[in-house]
Amino acid sequence: MTTTRQTTVVIFGASGDLTNRKLIPALFNLHLKHRLPEKFSVVGVSRSPFSHEDFRKKVEEGVKEFSPATYNPRRWARFAESIYYHSGDSTKLEDVHELHKFLNDLEDSKANRLYYLSTAPSLYIPTAENLGLTDMADERNGWRRLIVEKPFGVDLASAQQLNWALHKIFKEEQIYRIDHYLGKETAQNILFLRFANTILEPVWNRNYVDHVQITVSESVDVGHRAGYYDQSGVVRDMFQNHLLQLLALVTKEPPSTLDADALRNEKSKVFAAIPPIHLKDTVRAQYDGYCEIEGVAPNSQTPTYAALKLYINNWRWEGVPFYLRSGKAMAAKTSEINVVFRRPPLTMFENGTDESFTNNVLTIRIQPDEGTSLKFEAKMPDANVTRSVVMDFDYATSFGECLIPDAYERLLHDALNGDATLFTRSDNIEYAWKIIDPVIHGWETSPKAPPLVTYPVGSWGPKDADDLMGKGRVWLQLEGMDAAKNGGEK
Ligand code: BG6
Repeated sequence: MTTTRQTTVVIFGASGDLTNRKLIPALFNLHLKHRLPEKFSVVGVSRSPFSHEDFRKKVEEGVKEFSPATYNPRRWARFAESIYYHSGDSTKLEDVHELHKFLNDLEDSKANRLYYLSTAPSLYIPTAENLGLTDMADERNGWRRLIVEKPFGVDLASAQQLNWALHKIFKEEQIYRIDHYLGKETAQNILFLRFANTILEPVWNRNYVDHVQITVSESVDVGHRAGYYDQSGVVRDMFQNHLLQLLALVTKEPPSTLDADALRNEKSKVFAAIPPIHLKDTVRAQYDGYCEIEGVAPNSQTPTYAALKLYINNWRWEGVPFYLRSGKAMAAKTSEINVVFRRPPLTMFENGTDESFTNNVLTIRIQPDEGTSLKFEAKMPDANVTRSVVMDFDYATSFGECLIPDAYERLLHDALNGDATLFTRSDNIEYAWKIIDPVIHGWETSPKAPPLVTYPVGSWGPKDADDLMGKGRVWLQLEGMDAAKNGGEK
């Protein structure tokens, strides 16, 4: 961090969970790494009546709990001096005027400011409007940036409305829409893997790739977020953002530079090439017992699991199916991408036509057990048959245990530095909703919608998702690498 200007991060919705779990631990870690501006403050804003000291204690507990490896009372005390709290309702103009006065008293006249919208989404527009009305978006005396947490809208229309409302006050370059998956080291590594190595790019296309699987499974259930989740469901909660972002990283064309707009142009191009998803290529399911959870409607039709098959109609990917799935209360927490290559054109070995002859698979493990592995065939010693073996890179072995920073640390650092590469541009978000909206709408209204099925807690989801894969293809999962026995659908 090079700036000598005073900089303030203002967190709206500061009494919420995200501040404790992610934002303050991330800022504290940046402080420890000397990556914050020298003159730096954090101001928490919400309606709850905390004193500065109460708020410092509250967020200290968050750091102890969620970043125990880096917590240190002496260094915390130093950082805590830069933390302040201001009580107010950001939807009330007079309260925002008060906040403005508070900030002006705290800062010198040339300070930069990063606003973080971590409130309920219904407060995004009124809060931004009040920032506009109080001249708090004005950049004459220092930059003003706005981070917007997800969810960014609940469909295309509401996302467009939110974009329009924000653009009335902030320029696009001032807006940083968060998708924390983009801040994950392993997600960032996808572009490095593809474009910093020469061996992959020549085979990264329809001529060599049979299909691609993206799995983001969670073992947790909806827990205390049932009220939100029952309105949202897995497709809005996970697919519209995280899974589509991973898909874009795997499929987009190499940009001419690593510049934020060049990268985001390629993302929009790949999203624009996705034709409407057929309802027959979708599976929706709910885990057993979901409807009994407090906060969930008794006959809720909200899916907690979904699987989709989609295509990308461009030169590189024409005809290659992409299978995406995600769910709560599944067998394990894992986010991984499997690029499954075609089988050799001729299988001349003794087990060549046998079930045990498998495709090469490149597995990108986003989390946990971060790394990348390549499964390929080798000759079994003393026999004329092949067996699958795995070449593995894992972060812990290659780079040491503690080096993977939390996604929010990277994202906050980038926003403070004005680097929007890992944030979603307005058109990216709208394209993503254009892909997802018809699926949700079809499920709610079409007679062709697949039935909502159930799956046992702790399983890998419903059988219908296996059927979605088509002949000879199976979902690969953790122990399932050896189950990759597929000959292709065509
Ligand atoms: C959030 C979703 O965006 O991502 C949650 O709202 C989900 O429902 C979470 O649990 C998953 O993130 P991670 O980083 O734990 O995979």
